[in-house]
Amino acid sequence: MNTDKPSPIGILGGTGLTTLSGLEISGEKIIETPWGSPSAPLVFGALGSQQVVFLARHGHPHRIPPHEVNYRANIWALQEVGVKTLVGVNAVGGIHPAMGPAHIVIPDQLIDYTWGRGHTFYEGDLEEVTHIDFTFPYSDRGRQELIRAALDLGLSYSESGVYGATQGPRLETAAEVLRMERDGCDIVGMTGMPEAALAAELGMDYVCLGLVVNWAAGKSDHIITMAEIQAAIDEGMAGIRAILERSVHPLGHPRP
Ligand code: HPA
Repeated sequence: MNTDKPSPIGILGGTGLTTLSGLEISGEKIIETPWGSPSAPLVFGALGSQQVVFLARHGHPHRIPPHEVNYRANIWALQEVGVKTLVGVNAVGGIHPAMGPAHIVIPDQLIDYTWGRGHTFYEGDLEEVTHIDFTFPYSDRGRQELIRAALDLGLSYSESGVYGATQGPRLETAAEVLRMERDGCDIVGMTGMPEAALAAELGMDYVCLGLVVNWAAGKSDHIITMAEIQAAIDEGMAGIRAILERSVHPLGHPRP
C-alpha cells in the first residue's frame, strides 16, 4: 500500500474511453521510455481536487489493437511521472450470468491466456532473476474505493470476479468461452494482461474497472456485433466516468 505523500492517479482508458471528460487538462507530455513509446502523450490534469494522469491505451485516436499495445512503455511512462496507483479501465465480455451488457465489474482475480506480448521488465541483461509475487493481482485497497463509489452511485456492479485475458484481436469461439467458464472466468477482455503484472513489477497499486459491453461468445442467442458493443459503451460509460470522478481523491489520499 502506498501511504506516503499524495501522487497523481494514473488512468489507462480503453475502448470507449479515449478522453476523460471532466478532466481539467493542465498539459500533455510525450515520453520516451527504455521500452519504446507509450500509446499516446500523457495527459495531465485534475479530476475534482485530485491530480490525474490519463493515457489512452489504444492511442488517441483509437488505433492500436490489444496485442500491439506497448504495455511496458505505458506502465513505465506512468511510473516515471510519479504514478503509484493506477486504474485500468477495460471493456469486457460477460461470461457470468449476472454480468451482462452495461454491468460494471471490479475483478479480484485474473487468468492470463495472452501470448507473445512484452510482458515483463525482468528480462535481458539482468543482474539476477526476479520473480514477483502475483497472488493477488489487484490492489485490495484500490478495489474497495471503486466498490464504495459504485455503491454510493447506485450502479449495477459486481465487487469481485475473475478476468480472463485473451490475445485478440478476434473475439473468442463459444468453446473457448466455455473453457474459460470452466476455468472460473467471469469476464473476458484483451487488455488486462500484461498490464496488471507490469504494474506489480514496478510496485504500483493496480485496479481494474471493467465495463461489460457484450455477452461473451456463445452466451447469447446471437453473434457479437460492433453495434451491440457500441450501444453498451454508450449506456455504461457514464457510470465508469462517475466512479472515476468519485474514487480518484480517496485513491490518492489513503484512509488511515
Ligand atoms: N472478448 C474479449 N474481449 C472483449 C470482449 C469479448 O467478448 N468484449 C470486449 N472486449
